[in-house]
Amino acid sequence: MSQLIPVEPFDCVVFGATGDLALRKLMPALYHRWRDGQIPENSRIVGASRSELDAASYRALVREKFIEFFPKEEIDETAWKGFIERVSYCPLDVDKADSNWPRLAGELDAAPGKKRVFYFALPPSLYGDVAANIVKAGLKTPETAVVLEKPIGSDLASARAINDAVGRSFEERQVFRIDHYLGKETVQNLLILRFANSIFEPVWNASAIDHVQITVNETVGAGSRAAYYDKSGALRDMVQNHLLQLLCLVAMEPPLDLVADTVRDEKIKVLRALRRFTAKCADEDTVRGQYRAGSVNLEPVAGYEEELGGPSRAETFVAIKAHVDNWRWAGVPFYLRTGKRMSERKSEIVIQFKDVAHSIVGKEAGKLAPTRLVIRLQPDEGVKLLLMTKEPGPGGLRLRYVPLNLSYAATFTERYPDAYERLLMAVVRGDLGLFMRRDEVEAAWSWVDGILEAWENDGGRVLPYPAGTDGPNRAAVLLGRDGREWFDGV
Ligand code: NDP
Ligand code: BG6
Repeated sequence: MSQLIPVEPFDCVVFGATGDLALRKLMPALYHRWRDGQIPENSRIVGASRSELDAASYRALVREKFIEFFPKEEIDETAWKGFIERVSYCPLDVDKADSNWPRLAGELDAAPGKKRVFYFALPPSLYGDVAANIVKAGLKTPETAVVLEKPIGSDLASARAINDAVGRSFEERQVFRIDHYLGKETVQNLLILRFANSIFEPVWNASAIDHVQITVNETVGAGSRAAYYDKSGALRDMVQNHLLQLLCLVAMEPPLDLVADTVRDEKIKVLRALRRFTAKCADEDTVRGQYRAGSVNLEPVAGYEEELGGPSRAETFVAIKAHVDNWRWAGVPFYLRTGKRMSERKSEIVIQFKDVAHSIVGKEAGKLAPTRLVIRLQPDEGVKLLLMTKEPGPGGLRLRYVPLNLSYAATFTERYPDAYERLLMAVVRGDLGLFMRRDEVEAAWSWVDGILEAWENDGGRVLPYPAGTDGPNRAAVLLGRDGREWFDGV
């Protein structure tokens, strides 16, 4: 049974309140936490962006968008009323110190000791200025937390500039850098799976593991975020943060405990151990693709450039063969891939163990497949251990490859909170463990920069792939030439 631990009353200002993230993720997350009784009565939520809206029209917008993205039955009218009464709105240009800051101050509770959260759901170029303007307006208290959305920069230099600018106004303990994958239930379970079960640690290394695959595939395209996405591409948008965080959780050494910095200290060692790319190895060990027209779930869809309305070299797919150069992982490749407009939505980690040293069964029994631990992050969350088994019954020895299957849906029937719900409550509690520390973000960029530099010098070889497929053929070759293949189920 889940347990609800109420948080202290807080005031939360969402900058960028009329944007996609605020309306599609943050306001619904706050509503769900309110509905479940986790948010105390005297908490306040203030939306702020430049649009000239009054509180009533902003509340109507929050509801309209909620209904667009969630089933209407999710609205419990009594709970909604209580929630929306706590939501107000302040037109504000965060960039300008002489904007409506006094009015925003008036929306906040001046009681000493009350938690304040400022969520930057804004273009990252504004992060430094908004942080400085919060301080200038006298809104920073010792209990203030600022939440920075990704992407923090587009390379190491720009990430450092943003971190420096925010760091001039807030201490590191007050800065919560979001990677929403860290708030996903199944991602959190990775640490428990690895370190709360004794069978895995002895085999979690190069002597038993052949390789690791991390896949985050989406069926959606760049959609309404194409203007942002085109400047970013899949490497910056997904690999620098989500995939590298997953890699860290798979590859890190056991932390002493779950204290934020203990875990983050272990993750950063993995990032520092990632082998840097040179032009030659980037050419061999990375694959870039961009979707063309095709069909996804039997629906015809346009190509990326048609959606964008012009030519582009942005990659909507990337596959990478990475190496963690340390004692535990010597010689074990980590194959990463992520793409938009793929054949199916699937986020999954596959730990493939080494083949048995010698087969005791004849060929007629069937082919031996390697033991695989498949950690399914979404959808159909679960963990499978794929094993060779004797098919029961007479007729000679026949082998079958079958899963020991832990399905979340079958095992845990309660609703569990969305990543943003958990992350928002963690900010209010001041729990930094689910957020990225400055040095982690910069170490991830430092590795990604190596790939970006190599790509810049190769003339931009982005391979086309039809929407609704598994990306360019070269992604299969990346493993095929090592005698391996992407695991796409049995
Ligand atoms: P949008 O473009 O949809 O929204 C941007 C918001 O910022 C709008 O509310 C806009 O409102 C406001 N804004 C822009 N300039 C100012 C300003 N000077 N002062 C006050 N408000 C301003 O972006 P998203 O919501 O998609 O993204 C926001 C941030 O979250 C970005 O950093 C993005 O990368 C990140 N992010 C978004 C995700 C998503 O799923 N959408 C996922 C992960 C990260 P107005 O024009 O009224 O001022
Ligand atoms: C965001 C990326 O960080 O993650 C998007 O900017 C991507 O491009 C999204 O679609 C995927 O998140 P999820 O939770 O749907 O896997």
